[in-house]
Amino acid sequence: MVGFNPRDPAFIANPYPAFRQLRETTPVWRSPFGRTFLTRYEDASLLMRDRRLGKDYSEPEALIRRFGPTAMREPAVVELSHMMLMRDPPDHTRLRGLVTKVFTARKIEAMRPGIQAITDRLLDEVAGLGEMDAIRDLAFPLPVLVICELLGIPEEDRARFVTATASGAALLNPVPPTRAELDRANEGTLATGAYFAGLFELRREEPRDDLLSLLVQAEEAGDHLTTEELRANTTLLFAAGHETTVNLIGNGIWSLHGNPSQWAAIRDNPALIPNAIEEILRYECPVQAVARTVAEPIEFGDEEFNKGDLIVALIGAANRDPEVFPDPDRLDVTRERLKPLSFGGGIHFCIGAQLARIEAEVVFSTLLRRMPDLKLAEHGAPQWRESFTLRGLTTLPVTWTATRH
Ligand code: HEM
Repeated sequence: MVGFNPRDPAFIANPYPAFRQLRETTPVWRSPFGRTFLTRYEDASLLMRDRRLGKDYSEPEALIRRFGPTAMREPAVVELSHMMLMRDPPDHTRLRGLVTKVFTARKIEAMRPGIQAITDRLLDEVAGLGEMDAIRDLAFPLPVLVICELLGIPEEDRARFVTATASGAALLNPVPPTRAELDRANEGTLATGAYFAGLFELRREEPRDDLLSLLVQAEEAGDHLTTEELRANTTLLFAAGHETTVNLIGNGIWSLHGNPSQWAAIRDNPALIPNAIEEILRYECPVQAVARTVAEPIEFGDEEFNKGDLIVALIGAANRDPEVFPDPDRLDVTRERLKPLSFGGGIHFCIGAQLARIEAEVVFSTLLRRMPDLKLAEHGAPQWRESFTLRGLTTLPVTWTATRH
């Protein structure tokens, strides 16, 4: 069996046997990577919700412990430390409050027709071909176009920095980054920073009805948002808005077609689609790990932890805990009372959960309608991306009976 190693491509391709072994033998594992890993659902859920744990990215010593002695001189690390994702209250409350004003359930639901239009446009381009790379042609461009629209990023600019934000993924892995990974992440941070600085200037001069204009106004009001916070949280929204949803769609197509009876089940009963999406989130979850630092002493299992200890919840393992999900390695779109931990929990619960769910609903219902006989292509094995924490495929060739429209 392949052991737990977030840098090993064989482990990344199928981490589940190693997760199971850890859960069964050492569910609270003090690893050689300087972090403790949790694999049980109950422990993972507690890690995200208990206020004795937090994020300590406002403390330089904590960043040095996590990213090495040069941490405070690495632009990517400094930027990460300004993201709401990495802050505790009161900073977290202030930053999240500014963004949730825009992410109301009503506003997000109102995006559904636009999401449908983009999906149809993307599928129009390939429908007559009978084959596509489901990542390149659908799963990737859709969330990028949607988040660009929400933020107010001009469509023609997006190609410039999608790779730049992707380079930051290594900093989310539960092992310290290598020098090369830091260099790539820094390069990406500097490129996006320069791009956004120009765009903020435009929105400052001529505000529009978009999230960027709103954030720029909050920055101008001074006490709400600093310039560093504006830049970091725009990058966070852009990156979180597409990196993860790409993988929900890609992992979903992959899982449903690896289990053709489940694709047939939703084709025969499309009312199952929302439940199928929760099951995909459980079975191949796009964010595999979240981390917290101990702020006040706490116990997991029989182990005691003290201030400064780093603990990681392996969501992909917790989502396959047989105590909560019987027969956990089986994809079953009819499972009931599904509560996977895939969008996190507690004060950092994902802001974009509803948006991601709507994008996936639109994609799967449209694929079922327009390409009901879609299947994985026999050529070209799908490739998993290098990142462990952000789990997804880089290519996914699929075929169907070509149609004219
Ligand atoms: C399938 C898609 C997605 C998954 C699996 C996902 C997963 C997560 C998880 C697990 C967290 C919590 C991290 C933690 O506790 O440390 C989180 C937070 C967050 N997500 Fe998502 N996400 C998705 C889509 C999105 C989208 C579409 C957006 C934006 C449009 C977004 C924006 C955010 C933000 C801003 C946070 C930080 C919230 C905070 O710190 O209070 N996510 N996400």
